[in-house]
Amino acid sequence: MKIGIMTGGGDCPGLNAVIRAVAKSLMLQCDAEVIGFERGFLGMIEKKYRRLEYKDVSGILTAGGTILGTHNKANPFEYFGANGADVSEQVLANYEELDLDGVVAIGGDGTMTIAHRLEQQGIRFVGVPKTIDNDLMHTDRTFGFDTAVSIATDAVDRLQTTGQSHERVMILETMGRYAGWIALHAGMAGAADIILIPEIPFEIDEVARVCRERDQRQRFTIIVVGEGAKPRGGEQVVRETIADSPDPIRLGGIGNFLREGLKDRVDSEVRTTVLGHVQRGGTPTAFDRILSTNFGIYAASLVARGTFGEMVALKDGKLTSIALEKVANQTRYVPVNSLMVRAASAVGTSFGRSDLEIDLAQPGDELSI
Ligand code: F6P
Repeated sequence: MKIGIMTGGGDCPGLNAVIRAVAKSLMLQCDAEVIGFERGFLGMIEKKYRRLEYKDVSGILTAGGTILGTHNKANPFEYFGANGADVSEQVLANYEELDLDGVVAIGGDGTMTIAHRLEQQGIRFVGVPKTIDNDLMHTDRTFGFDTAVSIATDAVDRLQTTGQSHERVMILETMGRYAGWIALHAGMAGAADIILIPEIPFEIDEVARVCRERDQRQRFTIIVVGEGAKPRGGEQVVRETIADSPDPIRLGGIGNFLREGLKDRVDSEVRTTVLGHVQRGGTPTAFDRILSTNFGIYAASLVARGTFGEMVALKDGKLTSIALEKVANQTRYVPVNSLMVRAASAVGTSFGRSDLEIDLAQPGDELSI
């Protein structure tokens, strides 16, 4: 058996842990030959790869980033290196020349969408869901999320002490694209006073009211805002648009937008911290190492069974898989009435809305942690 591995899209803590688990288990259990494509789909287009030996995938469990490199613009159906032409036939020819039995693609929705299209041309894929955003459909978790939440929580803790010393309103802008998972989880873990997420568009006057109320008592306020959050009736703040990218919009800037809106509405000074790519760097948490290893082993077992065209998933505590076509081009949002939102509200956290009616927990409520 000969299998390729590639990592696509933005990087994320735990990628190396998955590469290690897939490669080691295929080598040890199936005596497979494993090659690693370099820089995501770019490696599959340009046939840039290297054979992975056991020693190459040893000692990488805890390493951040990806030993294979990644690329978030390389799309074989609109290849920037060929004036946007479709070079998928070239990818298929490379795959056949290499005599591969399949490829394990570790990536987010962009990677899964491309893998699904390449499947239809005859390349066999197993997908493994990665993203710090935790926004992939049909899996309760993606690896990398737990690490991002830990980093963001640490930032909230640190902002709290300096915010308290100076009696300021401290805003932390997290990543997460169009879903508020990172902001919600880090906000709850760090006891933020206000959490703003894309799924619950905020009212600036209500955010200011909560800050002023806290001014009277605690004298400082911590706001965690997901980069995709937006004012009610307003738009998301776009940091930049990247030409040639399968996912061209980069969000960012809502933290400063919020600061501008609050400056004249509150008495305290307002400061914004944009956490950025720190959330994606460094060593994965113990949870992400364990999740990545199990996702990798499961991907290897799908390969060993000859089950392709599927993405590994975690559903209700069980490892399973879902057809790639069902995952492509979809986003998993925070349900507005989820237990996490209700629990945060129940302990007095504001979501920046004057009209949010929230029930307490009910028996059987699903806790998505
Ligand atoms: O999808 C992961 C992510 O980190 C998002 O949270 C963020 O919006 C985006 O990628 C940033 O992309 P880039 O690394 O291209 O700036």
